[in-house]
Amino acid sequence: MIERIDELRSEAEAAIAAADSTAALEELRVRYLGRKAELPNLLRGVAQLPPEQRGQVGRAANQARQALEGLIETRTDELEASELDTRLAQDRIDLTLPGEPPQPIGRLHLLTATWRELEDVFVGLGFTVVEGPEVETVHYNFDALNHSATHPARDRTDTFYIRPPEASGRSQDAGLDAPRSYPSDVVLRTHTSPMQIRAMEAHPPPLYVVIPGRTYRRDNDATHTPMFHQVEGLAVDEDITLADLKGTLLAFARAVFGAERDVRLRPHFFPFTEPSVEVDVSCFQCNGTGYLKDGSRCNICKGEGWLEILGAGEVDPNVYSYVDDDRYDPEKVQGFAWGLGIERVAMLKHGVTDLRLFYDNDLRFLEQFG
Ligand code: PHE
Repeated sequence: MIERIDELRSEAEAAIAAADSTAALEELRVRYLGRKAELPNLLRGVAQLPPEQRGQVGRAANQARQALEGLIETRTDELEASELDTRLAQDRIDLTLPGEPPQPIGRLHLLTATWRELEDVFVGLGFTVVEGPEVETVHYNFDALNHSATHPARDRTDTFYIRPPEASGRSQDAGLDAPRSYPSDVVLRTHTSPMQIRAMEAHPPPLYVVIPGRTYRRDNDATHTPMFHQVEGLAVDEDITLADLKGTLLAFARAVFGAERDVRLRPHFFPFTEPSVEVDVSCFQCNGTGYLKDGSRCNICKGEGWLEILGAGEVDPNVYSYVDDDRYDPEKVQGFAWGLGIERVAMLKHGVTDLRLFYDNDLRFLEQFG
């Protein structure tokens, strides 16, 4: 009987090794281990054997059964995996194929294209792109940028304040009688400049970053939308001067508006730069002359020869003292910063006369670009 068990066992082992599908294995399981199969029958008959044989035969049959069960299980796992692979390979859908019928691919929105173009220019100059929160604290948006407590940009008529949840019961008119009390400590950022502070807190000098992103102000007309985009730039290193700022912006102006461009700096004021400047680019239509070939006044620069393009300056040494990190020592490092409007660049470059066109989603407008 032991021989028969061994015979069955090696026969089944060979069959299991040769099985090439899970279905074939299931058949073998039924044939060798099923209710009517020989081996289980032998096991059931052990009780009828003479007592001296029971132990030996029972053990052998049990071992054979367990061994076969184990083999079938392992082999089933293997075959299931490869069958799954085959099914997956057959079912593969190539999502990158064009639709039926093929649709023309779209294009980037002019603002996205301009955003990326600007990033490329500044990355080419060695800047790193970083982004930051659009919902910002008053600390980063105003205080740490050296704004006085009564700076007009803090007004609720200029800036969107976010009411914190715990204050939701409070009257929206709170503070109306006290003009310098502001509704909350959280705003939609009014410029990308708060990221100057955040970037300095995150990285020691030298620092060369540009920060593109959305900004918000309570304005709405042909040249202002409540949401618009800026690209901030910040360079902090040793021996940085206004000449470095001018050179950087000249490279930017030439990359974006043509190799013939020039830039000029005019004195201005920002709380967080000293000195502060407004930067003009020579007009790309009239080449800075103010007049067109036919003698008429240039309609892009209105005869000025220059286009105002952005605000900038040397980082005010006082700003470093707001950076929560003493690695920025105004005795050791200097920096420059600028903030430019992506919409403004796109409007100038493409002759767009109404800012709101960017947000109307009128395909007749959008399809002209890209
Ligand atoms: N944040 C300023 C604005 O939005 C622009 C600016 C940025 C000026 C950096 C100087 C330096 O008007």
